[in-house]
Amino acid sequence: MTISRRGFLILGAVTATAFAMPPFISLKAYAANLEQPMNVKVTINVNGKPRELQLDTRTTLLDALREHLHLTGSKKGCDHGQCGACTVIADGRRINSCLSLAVMQDGAEITTIEGLGMPDNLHPMQAAFIKHDGYQCGYCTPGQICSAVAVIKEIRDGIPSHASPSLTEPPQLIAAELQERMSGNICRCGAYSNIIEAISEVAQVQS
Ligand code: FES
Ligand code: FES
Repeated sequence: MTISRRGFLILGAVTATAFAMPPFISLKAYAANLEQPMNVKVTINVNGKPRELQLDTRTTLLDALREHLHLTGSKKGCDHGQCGACTVIADGRRINSCLSLAVMQDGAEITTIEGLGMPDNLHPMQAAFIKHDGYQCGYCTPGQICSAVAVIKEIRDGIPSHASPSLTEPPQLIAAELQERMSGNICRCGAYSNIIEAISEVAQVQS
């Protein structure tokens, strides 16, 4: 069978359309499916206790803590990773819990402000914040304290920051390092100098 050039082009166009259509249709179906909530079982160790939750996969760690476990110490400031009010410690490292899905933390060890200490048994960092007046309204304070505890560990573990003079030498426990590393924790009340004094005391910062 011979086929003209015109016939060949028409056949090619029809074939291309036929191949293009199914993905287009399935993408629509895929998008519709995304609108359906999907629940999964998540187990997170929170403040030393395993907590099993049935969660919509879109639930952030912050919402899981606050809305499902009723641990309201971690605060929702911006919900966009910009203020640090939601900072918790996950497997020893500080994270913005508003930026992490709870399913991503399945099996993780999470420490919130409630796990660091309570009024009758304060963590040294909590006590130092009170002593140095490191807050006014207190909204940013749980995140500041969780961050501060992790910052001291970061420095002692030798993790450099933007303020470190060397990437290979261990960073020093100095105020400039604390200020740089705490810069992701915003305090609308401007208690910054007192916050640094509190952290410095706990870290026994060199002057
Ligand atoms: Fe998470 Fe602001 S609430 S960074
Ligand atoms: Fe009010 Fe920090 S103490 S925002």
